[in-house]
Amino acid sequence: MADLHLVVDRAAGGLAAQIAREVREAVRSGRLVPGARLPATRDLARDLGLSRGVVVEAYEQLVAEGLLESRTGAGTRIAAGAGRGAAPGHPADEREGRPHYGHRPTSPDLGLFPRQAWLAAVRHVLATLPNDALDYGDPGGVPALCREVAAYLGRVRAADASPDDVVVVTGVAQGLSLVVQALVRDRGRGIVLAVEDPTSERQIPLLRRAGAHTVPVPVDREGIVVEALPGDADAVLVTPAHQYPTGVVLSPARRAALIGWAARTGALVLEDDYDAEVRFDRDPVGCLQGLAPDRVVLAGSVSKALAPGLRLGWIAAPPRVARAVRLARGELDLGSPVIDQYALAHLIAGGAYDRHLRRMRREYRRRRDALVRALAEHLPWITVHGISAGLHLYAQLDGGADGGGDLSGLAEAARAAGLSAEVVTPAHGPPGLVIGFARLPAHRVTDAVRALAGNVSRDVRG
Ligand SMILES: Cc1ncc(COP(=O)(O)O)c(C=O)c1O
Repeated sequence: MADLHLVVDRAAGGLAAQIAREVREAVRSGRLVPGARLPATRDLARDLGLSRGVVVEAYEQLVAEGLLESRTGAGTRIAAGAGRGAAPGHPADEREGRPHYGHRPTSPDLGLFPRQAWLAAVRHVLATLPNDALDYGDPGGVPALCREVAAYLGRVRAADASPDDVVVVTGVAQGLSLVVQALVRDRGRGIVLAVEDPTSERQIPLLRRAGAHTVPVPVDREGIVVEALPGDADAVLVTPAHQYPTGVVLSPARRAALIGWAARTGALVLEDDYDAEVRFDRDPVGCLQGLAPDRVVLAGSVSKALAPGLRLGWIAAPPRVARAVRLARGELDLGSPVIDQYALAHLIAGGAYDRHLRRMRREYRRRRDALVRALAEHLPWITVHGISAGLHLYAQLDGGADGGGDLSGLAEAARAAGLSAEVVTPAHGPPGLVIGFARLPAHRVTDAVRALAGNVSRDVRG
């Protein structure tokens, strides 16, 4: 039965008119959107303590105005086209006035989400979970998932973490945010956070909001330039497995230098492991956390492997940091949804997560190969980097310190051709273009790049 909150003054007259006015106002404000179902007249009359005839009269008036649609068997609904709300089923971010989220160049192909495996995992969880497990749990994550993630990270990322070092969070974004907040609390002041230049610009606002003053540090062919790190940094945020956005892998020498720097200065290394599972034709690179578990916080999530919308991730951190983040979740929001956590634990434990990752790697490798081949053929004047892993590549125009041409024109043409693309403007060095290839099936890549080449030869290269 549909439920509806309406305020009616029974002492005043015109009860049907009052109900009609309330419904109109709810539609105007977007509280009731087209397609929304209204309670049956009998139920609403009972809720409001009124006779059914009053509610019938109000509904009939609204049907006459075209605001409601009433069909036998389908009940009464807000008419399509009424009010300012979106039709049901449209994502909230498409509604008027809302910022647009999503479609990042690093987002996976959501059509590859393993629906059957996830459904089976949720089914298993609901069939077997004791009632008590549905209560408020450990805000740092259900023990079963902390155990599975610790074992998984050890096995796949060569991490060195016990289940107690693992805290479940809603993603890398929240993990980093809460670690920065914990450092700020510990120091009693805002912290200095070194970030790679270029970096993921989307993360900067959340890091600042958490209390970090960010200082850009250049990235070269070996990754972050360790000698350029500021002496007063409390922490450094890096993407060692596949630098975002350039795709550089942090070299062994730099890895050692970074750990040495952290040990000398007492700073914490925040390791954003955002796409580490997606590697194609290179040996796996173990995480930094495994080399220095007392100095490094590893942050990862299922956003690339499954879907960003799950908002499910983890950190593996030194015990003091893990305790602080667990406490923060206890004070902030009491933790992540438990059914999803148990479902993920079940997927990992049963091997379905690894099988899915292997399938994804094969599929994304096909798409990456097709894109690299097509770019070399149709746009030979751009150089691509960082192609051995991840869901994006980094393109630069040949010639000239400014990149040799108009990158935003190229980005626009790429988007028009169905690729996802974003211009990157580092503080140091030439600009580049992130091109996401996850969502473009291999058989459509050649046509897309041919279309792109047609547009840019006219608009960009002049
Ligand atoms: C480099 C990088 N780090 C972190 C994130 C955020 O990941 P999560 O969904 O795990 O919060 C993203 C998402 O696009 C990313 O590109």
